[in-house]
Amino acid sequence: MEKPIIVAKEPALVTLEPGFFAWCSCGRSTNQPFCDGSHNGTKFTPVLFKLAEKQDAWLCQCKQSKNPPYCDGAHKSL
Ligand code: FES
Repeated sequence: MEKPIIVAKEPALVTLEPGFFAWCSCGRSTNQPFCDGSHNGTKFTPVLFKLAEKQDAWLCQCKQSKNPPYCDGAHKSL
C-alpha cells in the first residue's frame, strides 16, 4: 500500500492569515506543509481547510496525524 512520505518527525508552527489552505497529505510537496500538486498520480489528496481568523497552528509533517492538518502527537511513536 502506498504510504505518505514522512517529511519531519515534528510539526511545523505556522502563522496563518484568514483564508483557504491545502495541507499536503502525501509528503511529496516542496512547499511543506502545504500542497504543491505533487500528489498527482498518487492515491493522496490534500486536506482543504478554511480559517476565519488569523491563528498560529501546529501542522503535521509526519503525515500520520489522525486529525490532519493538525499535529495530534502521532510523530512521537515514529
Ligand atoms: S507531526 Fe504528525 S502528528 Fe505531529
